[in-house]
Amino acid sequence: MTQTITVIRGDGIGPEIMDATLHVLDAMDVGLQYEFADAGLVALETTGELLPAATMDSIRRNRVALKSPLTTPVGGGFSSINVELRKRFDLYANVRPAKSFPNTRSRFPSGVDLITVRENTEGAYSAEGQELSPDGDTATSITKTTRRGSERIVRYAFDLARRTGRKQVTVVHKANILKSTSGLFLKVAREVAAQYPDIQCNELIVDNCCMQLVMRPEQFDIIVTTNLFGDIISDLCAGLVGGLGLAPGANIGTDAAIFEAVHGTAPDIAGQGKANPCALLLGAAQMLDHLGLPEKATRLREAIVATLEAKDSLTPDLGGSGNTQAFAKAIASRV
Ligand code: NAI
Ligand code: MG
Repeated sequence: MTQTITVIRGDGIGPEIMDATLHVLDAMDVGLQYEFADAGLVALETTGELLPAATMDSIRRNRVALKSPLTTPVGGGFSSINVELRKRFDLYANVRPAKSFPNTRSRFPSGVDLITVRENTEGAYSAEGQELSPDGDTATSITKTTRRGSERIVRYAFDLARRTGRKQVTVVHKANILKSTSGLFLKVAREVAAQYPDIQCNELIVDNCCMQLVMRPEQFDIIVTTNLFGDIISDLCAGLVGGLGLAPGANIGTDAAIFEAVHGTAPDIAGQGKANPCALLLGAAQMLDHLGLPEKATRLREAIVATLEAKDSLTPDLGGSGNTQAFAKAIASRV
């Protein structure tokens, strides 16, 4: 079976880490065909649009995309390309694993293995009702929580637990203060949890959750939470296990899924061969799981761990003196 995926090489370090990632995927014989599509600055220059219709069509057709980071120009009234993609394809689940790796600069070189499942379409990021009073002194916006939005994200988290043999889901909220919005999320989460008696459900208030994560991250398995809390918590978790160079994310909807690195275009190191390709490679591993190729996904993750263990060609963010290509070659030789 040959599956075609949309590949977006992106801006800044994007092309470097994408070439590295495709090099490793090719070495694994995963049977994927790549349909290249542009977005971001590259697309703006050639088509006048940040997110050309041809790129949207490609994702719609293939239903799976692997995407490098993109630059949304500041000013000029451009809305974030990533937010736009999430909205247009209703990519409601943002799934961000954080796992300990050897030989990173992490405080937790072992023991952490958790996944943040972040609601990706509503909450404080619904972008509704953004207003500034005429005197410029009062700003308001709407935080919107719906039963449908809460139910599908919590269900996603519990189904993920079942599918991956995980045992515990922690619902993170602030229902004690945000009584309507976080309150509805917690109420719906309890209803859904009751349908999964085989999975332990914990509840944790978000501020306490942050402290617990820093003190004892080993106690967490799957975290499910609303948009803003999930954005912050998932970066915190990336920091626990070695930083942005090792943090992947999946944006999953009913009709499409986009896999990426959590980090941005890193303009400070772009074009220098210093970028760590692991975040995008781990995003590719999530994609292989999604495509029903879990053995390949595992093999890819194991090759990354083995390369880190051997300290073979590590990039400067990991304390090495290797470059992006050499690191990718070292991983490819182990898949
Ligand atoms: P950034 O993630 O690009 O960089 C933050 C720091 O981490 C920099 O020092 C960078 O060198 C380092 N870093 C990031 N990825 C790395 C890697 N793979 N290997 C080694 N070091 C790495 O965040 P920043 O600087 O806030 O944003 C830069 C641009 O990226 C902005 O235009 C922003 O809009 C865009 N961005 C795009 C995202 C996406 O498309 N998914 C996500 C976040 C930001
Ligand atoms: Mg973020």
